[in-house]
Amino acid sequence: MDAFQLLLLVVVVISTCKWKSEATSCVDSDKEKYNLLEGEAFYFIPYDVIEPNDGEFTWFKSSPQSRNISSKETERVYYHGGALFFFDILPTDAGNYTCQEISPTGECYNHHVEICVFNTSFRADEKLTYGEVKNSDGNKEIECPRVVSDTCEALTGNFTWYKDFILLPGEHEAIMWVENAAKHDEGIYTCICTWRHNHKVYNSSGSRRLIFQETAFFSDANILSPTNKVQFADEGSELKLNCSVYCGKNATRKCDASWNINGIPVINIDSNRYNQATNLVIENPSKNTIATSILTIKKVSAKDFEDKFECSVTNFYRGNRATLTLQRRASIIPLVIGGVCVLFFCVFAAMLVKFFAIDLALFFRPYLPLSKHNEDKRIYDAYVVYQMQKKDKATEETLSRFITKILPTVLENKCGYRLFIHGRDDIPGEDRLELVEDCMKQSRRLMVILTPGSESGPEITDQCPASPQTAILGGFDWQVGLHHALIQREMSVILIQLGNTGPQGYTNFPPGLQHLILKSAPLRWPESSRGAAAWNSRFWKRLHSQDQLGSSYSSAVTVGSVRCQGGDGGGGAGCMRRLHGPEGPSGGWDRPHP
Ligand SMILES: *[C@@H]1O[C@H](CO)[C@@H](O)[C@H](O)[C@H]1NC(C)=O
Ligand SMILES: *[C@@H]1O[C@H](CO)[C@@H](O)[C@H](O)[C@H]1NC(C)=O
Ligand SMILES: *[C@@H]1O[C@H](CO)[C@@H](O)[C@H](O)[C@H]1NC(C)=O
Ligand SMILES: *[C@@H]1O[C@H](CO)[C@@H](O)[C@H](O)[C@H]1NC(C)=O
Ligand SMILES: *[C@@H]1O[C@H](CO)[C@@H](O)[C@H](O)[C@H]1NC(C)=O
Ligand SMILES: *[C@@H]1O[C@H](CO)[C@@H](O)[C@H](O)[C@H]1NC(C)=O
Ligand SMILES: *[C@@H]1O[C@H](CO)[C@@H](O)[C@H](O)[C@H]1NC(C)=O
Repeated sequence: MDAFQLLLLVVVVISTCKWKSEATSCVDSDKEKYNLLEGEAFYFIPYDVIEPNDGEFTWFKSSPQSRNISSKETERVYYHGGALFFFDILPTDAGNYTCQEISPTGECYNHHVEICVFNTSFRADEKLTYGEVKNSDGNKEIECPRVVSDTCEALTGNFTWYKDFILLPGEHEAIMWVENAAKHDEGIYTCICTWRHNHKVYNSSGSRRLIFQETAFFSDANILSPTNKVQFADEGSELKLNCSVYCGKNATRKCDASWNINGIPVINIDSNRYNQATNLVIENPSKNTIATSILTIKKVSAKDFEDKFECSVTNFYRGNRATLTLQRRASIIPLVIGGVCVLFFCVFAAMLVKFFAIDLALFFRPYLPLSKHNEDKRIYDAYVVYQMQKKDKATEETLSRFITKILPTVLENKCGYRLFIHGRDDIPGEDRLELVEDCMKQSRRLMVILTPGSESGPEITDQCPASPQTAILGGFDWQVGLHHALIQREMSVILIQLGNTGPQGYTNFPPGLQHLILKSAPLRWPESSRGAAAWNSRFWKRLHSQDQLGSSYSSAVTVGSVRCQGGDGGGGAGCMRRLHGPEGPSGGWDRPHP
């Protein structure tokens, strides 16, 4: 072999290799798949063949049996360039077909298509439909499947439309509209392309199923929850956060609620501390569409109080968000302690007030409006009545001491009162009846001294006292006094009880007196108490406070203790008629004339 021959061999080998590598390096495209009806025609150009009439095309069936496809137009199955034709499809046409394309620029492509054949009893089968039309639009647009509309376009066929295999007259476009679609418009819509080939008419069909969806109304994405910016929580306990959005009516499209923590969606946070559950609800019959996302924090930690929780929602048109921070729940212990303190203080204050009520009343009395007694022109502050007869020795002594010593000492000398006391202030020889009547009229109060046995004497109720003496001891004074106090309401009454009432209580008193006793309980003179006789003892304070005695008195003199201490100018003289002169601290009191 000479050098030339060797060179030629090398060139041949290289060129062969190059051709071989070209032949085996065809690019395979994705396989397409069609389910066809027996008896129809099928026209097909692979989706990635740009120029079906330019370039070199070879079609063959690769399975189940390999077979060359003819390019003769009279064959039942034939190809023309990149287009494959089937007429009167038979079940045996099912199989895998390949088209090898050598483009004008020399690239090689393998296009694959798988054909399945069904007989017409399967025409409503899901496999024979080209997808669903399913949306909430009011007017539904149904597109003829692309492979069928391409057929009609390329081969100048005519469209006819069927609904559930019943002709829809007047529909001859590649797209048909179902206006104001309703539930009864649901069904299988078939478009048939009728085309001519070699003077024969063939049909190619494709179907879609229309599924009715209720028309939707999309509102703004209104966040229903959370409504507050702050959520109270307890550290260590479980917490559920509710993110809830109102999307509209029948508005399930893109109606969504979810939680972000510091801007990161919870679903992207790899942590077993959180759990998110979402839910979409259409309420009936309102059709209100609400999406809810519940974020569960299994155990609230200190970090959670610094995090920003964001409820992020969307509906078909819009988005919205609301942020939430956690705050520790205020402890109720300080509140409870505060409450208990206030309660204690109130109880303490109430006890103080109760204990010192009288002192307080006396203290504040001068600041209160003055009683009408201050303006009247009466001479006496009190007219004292008591009962003297039918007493045992001890009672008599007690009464006597009270009347003659204690009352004048305290009320007249210390406090500056003017009293009219029977047996002391009446002048012998004066007209008894006139005197009583007169002195009563000149007195602001009736001071009744009740003694054990006061109730027993008929003299008390006696209308007509037997003698002036008995009258002093009860009868007439009582009558006149009660008359003034009860009927004319000119006098107020102070009841003072000396000693015990006995087992009968006050039941034996005349009804008028009982009435007075009911209105204000008698003050008990604490005979045995040592400090009772002192002007500032509790008894006298009660006496002042119980009646308006103190008020007239305080206007005349000053307040409380100061007032009484100064009032030493009375001297128990006679009928307590006013004297001229500034003995009292008031400085302006008239002393009774003798
Ligand atoms: C297909 O045609 C090729 C030539 O283009 C031939 O070699 C092959 O044998 C044929 N196959 C069948 C099954 O006829
Ligand atoms: C087509 O080829 C696939 C494998 O690519 C095979 O599973 C299928 O059965 C074939 N179809 C027919 C009708 O032979
Ligand atoms: C369609 O095929 C089924 C079996 O797959 C058969 O029972 C039926 O008779 C066939 N129908 C027609 C119209 O050929
Ligand atoms: C399509 O319709 C036109 C007019 O309506 C008619 O002339 C034509 O023959 C029809 N073509 C086929 C394939 O039926
Ligand atoms: C083809 O379609 C036309 C019009 O839709 C119809 O009248 C005819 O019966 C169909 N032919 C076959 C063989 O299905
Ligand atoms: C929601 O659907 C119902 C029918 O189920 C319809 O009556 C109602 O009008 C629809 N609501 C809106 C807002 O479109
Ligand atoms: C979440 O909030 C919405 C709106 O306030 C309410 O309807 C729903 O019941 C709440 N869900 C839970 C689990 O609390």
